[in-house]
Amino acid sequence: MEGASGQRPLGVAVLGHGTVGAEVVNIIREDALDLQERIGAPLELRGVAVRDASSDRGIPAELLTTDAEALVRRDDVDLVVELIGGIELPRTLVRAALDAGKSVVTANKALLAAYTGELAEAAESHNADLYFEAAVAGAIPVIRPLTQSLAGDRVDRVMGIVNGTTNYILSAMDESGADYETTLAEAGRLGYAEADPTADVEGFDAAAKAAILASIAFHTRVTASDVYREGMSSITAADLTSARALNCTIKLLAICERISGPDGRDRVSARVYPALVPREHPLATVAGAFNAVVVEAQAAGRLMFYGQGAGGAPTASAVMGDLVMAARNRVQGGRGPRESKYAKLEIAPMSDIVTRYYVNLQVADRAGVLSAVAAEFATRGVSISAVRQEGAGDGARLVVLTHRATDRALADTVAALENLESVTAVTSVLRLEGSAE
Ligand code: NDP
Ligand code: HSE
Repeated sequence: MEGASGQRPLGVAVLGHGTVGAEVVNIIREDALDLQERIGAPLELRGVAVRDASSDRGIPAELLTTDAEALVRRDDVDLVVELIGGIELPRTLVRAALDAGKSVVTANKALLAAYTGELAEAAESHNADLYFEAAVAGAIPVIRPLTQSLAGDRVDRVMGIVNGTTNYILSAMDESGADYETTLAEAGRLGYAEADPTADVEGFDAAAKAAILASIAFHTRVTASDVYREGMSSITAADLTSARALNCTIKLLAICERISGPDGRDRVSARVYPALVPREHPLATVAGAFNAVVVEAQAAGRLMFYGQGAGGAPTASAVMGDLVMAARNRVQGGRGPRESKYAKLEIAPMSDIVTRYYVNLQVADRAGVLSAVAAEFATRGVSISAVRQEGAGDGARLVVLTHRATDRALADTVAALENLESVTAVTSVLRLEGSAE
């Protein structure tokens, strides 16, 4: 049946009716008339795939199915929205949709960070769209600006806070002085942290997002396995106290950078770790579960994107934007941007990355210790910017801030410090990002 626009309706299958899927289904049903005007054809919901079709979800029971694969294959489905999560099942479903020429919208960063290549090729071969704005930083438009608005510029750096759970925990630790375990438990009670917070606190979620951002920014396929990753679960209240004394805070950062290799050719670095960030840096002010991404491009300069990086409604906003784009393409002809991977840049090893460091050492409190410690830095060409003693006697600690050095030189220095008789323990080593020096 044709809509008022004269265009035949476009059939939509939504896979998943959880936090995000339920919001997407709501918008499709509630805003049907506006969406029809914006698209030029009505969207018709053909079905919603769930695990348990017996519970009342406030939508007509006949829309629910537990057979996601059959729903995707229906002839009257033109557009598939994947909001199940996980990797292998969505991979099968998204492949089935694309292979049948249906356009796909997904918020699934884990899937994309593992299989963008395969899925983009399937989309390409079957003249379908694959959109994924919601996969990085929820509601914040960052994929489309990188793929389209900056398509004529040269991006050098993308640095962001792309995980809301860990930003909530680090912000709360900074504000209250509480330790990691207490704050994580509070984040769980408030619904920010999942029952199993591993993907968030160990940086897997941010690493998947870094892979997606780096691929787009540098026109190179980058997968999650190319991303260097350190989680934030070992950050202590003492680290935040030391950071505060240096006029910094600590953030879990995703950094995607174009760097020059030894042969002068560009390489890509993609990495995730907790780092000190100076209080005056725009990312230091991003508090709670919010996300922000700073993009540095040659002609555009520095751009910052800020907003809600998770949650049902904010994420559904990005999903719906993609769905409208994919639907418009069906109505007007044409397709969204293809995967751009022409640059094929090499991935730089972490040991070559140059940044500043904060090293916290538990030391003997006696004459000569500072010079012995400083000598280990100097021997490996790591220049010290500041040193401060905290505590005294058995509780003496040295906090060392370096100038820029390679990760290799710093790792060698730390190994040597661990062998010094006067160093009881290297308590923590963190990078310092976003400082002018
Ligand atoms: P939920 O866990 O809340 O929902 C998952 C949905 O998938 C549920 O409705 C579930 O059914 C359904 N489902 C699970 N397995 C199957 C199956 N085998 N067949 C059919 N349906 C199935 O996930 P979210 O909504 O939180 O996340 C969805 C996606 O969006 C994920 O990829 C996530 O990474 C991404 N995302 C989520 C954000 C968020 O804030 N939540 C933010 C950005 C991205 P049932 O209801 O019966 O259990
Ligand atoms: N677990 C993610 C976060 C959800 O905390 O940001 C959004 O991808």
